[in-house]
Amino acid sequence: MATTSPSMQTELDGPEVLRRGLREQRAEIAVDDVPLKGQLPPWLTGTLVRLSPSRWDAGDQQMRHWFDGLAMLHRFGIRDGRVDYANRFLRTKQYRSITEEGHMATSEFGTDPCRTLFGRVMTMFRPDFTDNANVNVVKLAGEAIAMTETPIPMTFDPETLETIGVSPWAEHVPGMLTIAHPHADPVTGDLVSFATEISRHCKVNVYRMDPQTRETTVIASIPDPKIPYMHSFAITERHVILVTFPLVIDQLAMMKGALKRGGGVVDHFRWEPERGSTFHVFDRETGEQRASIAGPAFFSFHHVNAFEREDGRVVVDLFAYEDGSIVEALMIEDLRAGTATLPGAELRRCELDLDAGTVDIRPLADPNAELGRIDYARHNGRPYRWLYAVSSQGTRPGAREALLGDQLVKIDVESGAFSAWHEAGCLPSEPVFVARPGGTQEDDGVALSVVLDARSETSFLLALDAATFTEIARAELPQHVPLGFHGAFFS
Ligand code: CO
Repeated sequence: MATTSPSMQTELDGPEVLRRGLREQRAEIAVDDVPLKGQLPPWLTGTLVRLSPSRWDAGDQQMRHWFDGLAMLHRFGIRDGRVDYANRFLRTKQYRSITEEGHMATSEFGTDPCRTLFGRVMTMFRPDFTDNANVNVVKLAGEAIAMTETPIPMTFDPETLETIGVSPWAEHVPGMLTIAHPHADPVTGDLVSFATEISRHCKVNVYRMDPQTRETTVIASIPDPKIPYMHSFAITERHVILVTFPLVIDQLAMMKGALKRGGGVVDHFRWEPERGSTFHVFDRETGEQRASIAGPAFFSFHHVNAFEREDGRVVVDLFAYEDGSIVEALMIEDLRAGTATLPGAELRRCELDLDAGTVDIRPLADPNAELGRIDYARHNGRPYRWLYAVSSQGTRPGAREALLGDQLVKIDVESGAFSAWHEAGCLPSEPVFVARPGGTQEDDGVALSVVLDARSETSFLLALDAATFTEIARAELPQHVPLGFHGAFFS
């Protein structure tokens, strides 16, 4: 499966591949008919929209963290076996401030503008939140929305990529810090998510929102003296499961204005392993707490899936890190210099016994993995078998890191067996699964990944047959898409 282009005389080393993957991209282009190798299936019709941070130069300062970069939308329209492409920065307040005035309007995850003493107080937690929605894309009640972890979802037109504005949803988010990975209730279609109220004592509010009326109900709350940093959560047919990891944000230190000049929220993360992790399980309808189960200290950005077993146990699969150091390891300067040591990620299964109040945790598969996708529409919250994810062959320093990995894997979560796609000098993005309409097998469809080819410094849209996990087509862009986070396929 590894195919190296014969025209490439010299192999790039790992750090150089990463450096090229994190180069800025400021050119906004539109390509009508992207050159295609191979054949896309005729049934594949729709739009893949992905986000990438694409500019870290904020004029009078450099943004410090991979997560800080200005949000760029990338659109791949697919119809009749052909692909068109366009990319455009989200026209946010942050974007305008940087491009027109040469400085940041609000703080980001790793960078605070710090223009005045007052500005050193964490602006992320004042009403002046960043609107740089660079993490994930969802569709809600017909609206295409770009999201980050401040409660400012931005709507855009998925056809033209024009920024429309702040979604009315923003007014209903019950907290100041939220997530870019909400769930859709498979029964009611409601949005289910959570947000954290920040004060001297914090509170994580789990809520549901009717996407049509935007009526919002807090269904459960978790009080915590600090802010437990959580990037995603899981649902099953009957439950909502949140795992509070011992990676916390010290909001009091932050409110005292103890920010280092040029610092950001990332400087106030604390790893407190003595807290352990806690699995909070709530009834999704009534909000009743079903269990609060103590587990070992670990950290995860991304849940993969969760479901209820016939014996009543609740299974939660996630990508786990031994500790919270991954968050600080993603400083853009270190990543570009090749000096970042990225900790490894492991696919783990957590089996919760709600009555006994216990959890059994074990690795599910051998390859490290991150940024995974499943057949969400049919299997989220339900038993499933196939996971598509980014992984690393371990050729770079840092060995088992997966977040900026160099291969794609398809993992059988029942057996741990896997297949891989890899090409020298290439860094693939999260593989988005698209099911074939009318298909009955869980892996009947394609996996779409935007792959950065560091050799040519361009990117291509890769389509893999999801069943065989082999390449069926690639559409080659004339420029590169910087390494990013998430996307969605709109049929
Ligand atoms: Co994410």
